[in-house]
Amino acid sequence: MTALLDINGLTIDIDRDSGPARVVDGIDLSILEGESLGIVGESGCGKSLTMLSLVGLLPNRIRATGGTAHFAGRDLLRLSPAELRKIRGAQIGFIFQDPMTSLNPVMRIGDQIAEALIYQTGLDKPAAMAKAGDLLELVGIPSPRERLMAYPHELSGGMRQRVMIAIGLAGSPRLLIADEPTTALDVTIQAQIVDLVRDLKDRLGMSVVWITHDLALIAGLADRIAVLYAGTVVEDAPVDLIFERPTHPYTRGLLASLPTLTDRPMSRLPSIGGTPPEPGRRPAGCPFAPRCTLAVAACQTEVPRLRPVAGSDPRHRAACFVTAKEGAAA
Ligand SMILES: Nc1ncnc2c1ncn2[C@@H]1O[C@H](COP(=O)(O)OP(=O)(O)OP(=O)(O)O)[C@@H](O)[C@H]1O
Ligand SMILES: [Mg+2]
Repeated sequence: MTALLDINGLTIDIDRDSGPARVVDGIDLSILEGESLGIVGESGCGKSLTMLSLVGLLPNRIRATGGTAHFAGRDLLRLSPAELRKIRGAQIGFIFQDPMTSLNPVMRIGDQIAEALIYQTGLDKPAAMAKAGDLLELVGIPSPRERLMAYPHELSGGMRQRVMIAIGLAGSPRLLIADEPTTALDVTIQAQIVDLVRDLKDRLGMSVVWITHDLALIAGLADRIAVLYAGTVVEDAPVDLIFERPTHPYTRGLLASLPTLTDRPMSRLPSIGGTPPEPGRRPAGCPFAPRCTLAVAACQTEVPRLRPVAGSDPRHRAACFVTAKEGAAA
């Protein structure tokens, strides 16, 4: 299978008065046609900036400074703003975290979806309104055509997030990027949104990137998981292997901090001590070494690259001098 999106050695720097500070440090990621990729990692590790860089939406003073990101054969990092505008929405759709800030509160939702459709597809207003009703039906909103007339505040949080998904799908994108789209919702609604996106992915044959802090939530949707730490991919594997054979010490820490059914409600979760490096203050060697209980001398001086995990599936890779070869003798 060919990759729809292939990111190689992506670096992103923040332009500070004191000089550039690196936040994304050589990310390698690829997404196959029809595949769903979960991206996990703690706050500040560069998940959102990585995705925003693809469609030319990085904030002021933050720039992609190296690497390539081929999408359907073209390097997105080298396209003009006008070319990227054509790709946004039409080929790469986005869903963001908080529908209350992304939806216009004084505009009926039908008009908002129709606006996206007119922009993406050039439909006229009546055709766009009809299609907007179809999209609301597709994302599972009851009485979809009546709902076109509603304002955002008249819908529940989960329904608003479904409207955001409808807008994300308006241009029939080949890739849908969801950046923590359920964080503001309660747990049962989160699960419904995950199910909806999985169902839509299968029906529409698109690829999905789903960014989250929540490894357990993503398990039901993702074919593959990439674990980010301090602006690099530290592990990348089919979802089952992330749970059955977590290899990078950071991934193991993330899994250890998941609540299990046997935990007593008030028992404390084990967590990873320390904090990730600040942008621009990366240690010389492995960025996780200062927090890692397994670190050896090489970890302090050399940056480990993603490499196949010994004795595992060929698609399972981890960036660790110590654990990636653990299974070699077995
Ligand atoms: N507009 C900005 N100006 C300055 N620094 C920024 C800006 N946006 C992000 N950063 C910094 O870049 C780093 C990566 O940010 P990013 O938003 O990609 O993190 P994230 O992994 O999406 O985190 P979260 O899980 O909190 O959304 C962070 O350390 C953050 O402080
Ligand atoms: Mg983010």
